[in-house]
Amino acid sequence: MLAGSGWMEERSMAELVLDSVTKVYNPKSRHPVTAVDRVDMPIGDGEIIGLLGSSGCGKTSTLRMIAGFESVSSGEIRVGERVINNLPPARRNVAMAFEGYALYPPLRIRDNIGFALLRDRHPAAEVARKVDEVTGLLEIGDILDRYPPTISAGQQQRSSLARALIRDADAFLLDEPMSQLEPQLRAILRARIKDWLITRKMTTVFVTHDQTEAIALADRIAVMEGGILQQFATPNDLKERPANLFVASFIGEPPMNIYTASVYRDGDRLGLIAEDQAGNEAFRVALPGEDAAPAPHRQLRDGQRVHLGVRPHRVRLGEGGLLGRVTSHHWLGDQTHIGIELGNALLIAVAHGIFEARAGSDIAIALPATSLHIFDHDSERALFHGMEPAERAA
Ligand SMILES: Nc1ncnc2c1ncn2[C@@H]1O[C@H](COP(=O)(O)OP(=O)(O)OP(=O)(O)O)[C@@H](O)[C@H]1O
Ligand SMILES: [Mg+2]
Repeated sequence: MLAGSGWMEERSMAELVLDSVTKVYNPKSRHPVTAVDRVDMPIGDGEIIGLLGSSGCGKTSTLRMIAGFESVSSGEIRVGERVINNLPPARRNVAMAFEGYALYPPLRIRDNIGFALLRDRHPAAEVARKVDEVTGLLEIGDILDRYPPTISAGQQQRSSLARALIRDADAFLLDEPMSQLEPQLRAILRARIKDWLITRKMTTVFVTHDQTEAIALADRIAVMEGGILQQFATPNDLKERPANLFVASFIGEPPMNIYTASVYRDGDRLGLIAEDQAGNEAFRVALPGEDAAPAPHRQLRDGQRVHLGVRPHRVRLGEGGLLGRVTSHHWLGDQTHIGIELGNALLIAVAHGIFEARAGSDIAIALPATSLHIFDHDSERALFHGMEPAERAA
């Protein structure tokens, strides 16, 4: 008997599309809550999507609408050509691991996990084999004969995850599937789960607060804030081409250095004057001359107000025309975070390995034009990434 063979071929999956999906709770009350606001998300067959955002931004609401446990206020959810948002949950063929686990207390863990397959009349021996396989993967093979109230929160969470992963569904929705686990176990399981999802070509949307987890697991990440999808892109694009100031400051550890700045013109050269918190000049960076081709940043106007961003790991230390003063440095075991005062503004830099510098000492700094991100002052949308226009064909 070939373990798992036929399991994935049976499934006919297709694109899962969220089309302007909106959720308003208590719409008729005096305090309606718009939890999800016109979210567009086309998810490819077999794609792994991370839904990332702060508490209350609408992640669980989004998953529950896909699963059918919450109605859609407006918009449409489709699997392939099939509109599913008016179907009852049981007819959507979607598996979900809930934030609150939702295990059945009177059933042993083994029966909780095998429940959907037994209900769908899969042979008992096949279900037993699959339960063994998925619980081995998640390191809960030793609690299969216990009942939900008698196991730990981390074990309940993995049981709930196993109950979803074992299924044969069009889409898998995992709401913070590993939040209860310690970092070491999480890292091990993350790799195994990723392998499980990829091998079986499982279309997956998982929710997390943890950007490291999102980056490690997801093909693409949907960053949400205030019910609005801020950007839906690959982990690399989120870092290198953040769509707006929110994503730029949300993704990346330590966060991007961001300054209010204004454009100046000096002969045929443009540059930026970055400000400190009080609005005074902190430092200047020159942008490539007009002779440099391509130079789309020439669209910037003299005096234009912008936000300037630079990632800590793109700051070059010990070279360049800016002079700063080291204010702090923290060795984190594999890299050093260095606080530098530039004018009266603070710049955080990351150096690989141990960085030898005394607090209070001067340091030369370069901020290469290719590492600068420029955002519109008012809309906070990205204008340039490394001197390339932010708006390019997606
Ligand atoms: N049943 C409900 N009735 C009214 N408002 C709700 C309901 N469920 C959620 N909300 C509100 O909708 C917004 C989004 O909630 P949601 O649970 O989707 O957030 P989340 O991103 O999953 O947060 P967390 O990370 O804390 O789990 C919040 O403002 C929340 O208070
Ligand atoms: Mg939630």
